[in-house]
Amino acid sequence: MADKKMIVLVALMVVVAVSIVDGQKVCNISRTEFDECLPAMTAPDPTFPSKECCENIHNADLPCMCSYKDSYLATTVLQVDTELAMKIPKKCGRVLPSPC
Ligand SMILES: *[C@@H]1O[C@H](CO)[C@@H](O)[C@H](O)[C@H]1NC(C)=O
Repeated sequence: MADKKMIVLVALMVVVAVSIVDGQKVCNISRTEFDECLPAMTAPDPTFPSKECCENIHNADLPCMCSYKDSYLATTVLQVDTELAMKIPKKCGRVLPSPC
């Protein structure tokens, strides 16, 4: 049983990774939209999120984003600093769901 769960999990991660690369939406944010926020979530010198970034964040599914907070996908595939990333909604005037 445990093995099956693991396989499902890995398969799911691959699907999500491919979706992002393909430009489909994940958490209601496409890869292109996500890229607008990249300067704001890149260490060591993040910028304040741009107007375009904030507009995308306003449409984003934040609880969904929370689930990626500590993910392999975010840190390894997308190479974002998730701690910085989680500060963006606040800078854009959105409140993150709690707990996140
Ligand atoms: C998803 O984003 C679009 C704009 O890109 C927005 O119109 C829509 O309301 C968003 N959906 C949700 C569920 O937030």
